[in-house]
Amino acid sequence: MELFEVMGKRCSVRKYLAKPVEEQKLKKILEAVNEAPSAGNLQAYKIYVVRENMVKRMLSEAAFGQSFIEFAPAVLVFCALPEESAKKYGERGANLYSIQDATIAASYAQLATTALGLASCWVGAFNEGKVKEILKIEKELPVAIIPIGYAAEKPEKPKRKKLDELIYFMDN
Ligand SMILES: Cc1cc2nc3c(=O)[nH]c(=O)nc-3n(C[C@H](O)[C@H](O)[C@H](O)COP(=O)(O)O)c2cc1C
Repeated sequence: MELFEVMGKRCSVRKYLAKPVEEQKLKKILEAVNEAPSAGNLQAYKIYVVRENMVKRMLSEAAFGQSFIEFAPAVLVFCALPEESAKKYGERGANLYSIQDATIAASYAQLATTALGLASCWVGAFNEGKVKEILKIEKELPVAIIPIGYAAEKPEKPKRKKLDELIYFMDN
C-alpha cells in the first residue's frame, strides 16, 4: 500500500477476528517502529508484546473494562523511559521527549499494522498504576496500549475538522 493510502485507511478498530497475528507481520511492525525518529536518537521507550490471555484480560481491566483489548490476538504496550532521556536532556527529556518518543513509535506501529492488512486501536484510557503493576515496571511510563488483529468490523470513518480550523498560515 502506498503511504497516503495507509494513512487514509487507518482507523480505530475495536473488534478482531480470532486469527493470530503472524510472527513475520509482527516482526515487520516492530522493525517499522525502529525506524521512528526520537530525541537524540535515544529511542527512550520500550514495547511490551502481550499475547497471553490472562495478561490481556488484566490490561482490559486496567483500561476500565475496554474488553476489545482482551480479545485482540496481540497487544503492544508502549512505555516511555523518562530516566533514559533525562540523562541527556534533563527535565525536558523526562517529561516530554521520552513520551514523544513512545508516542511516535506507537503511531508508526499503527501505520505499519494498517499497511500489513491488520487493524488496531490506540488506547490511552487506563489506570497507569495498574498497568505498571501488570508489566512489573516501576520507572517506565505506560503511554499507549495498542491492540492488534484482523478487523472483524468496518467502522465508519469519523469526521475530521476542516483544515482551516487546524492550520494557521503565518505568512503575513
Ligand atoms: C491519545 C489517544 C487516546 C485514545 N484512547 C482511546 C481509548 O482509551 N479507547 C478507545 O476506544 N479509543 C481511544 N482512542 C482512539 C480515538 O478514539 C480515535 O483515534 C478517534 O476517535 C479517531 O478515530 P480513528 O482512529 O478511527 O480515526 C485514543 C486515541 C488517542 C490518540
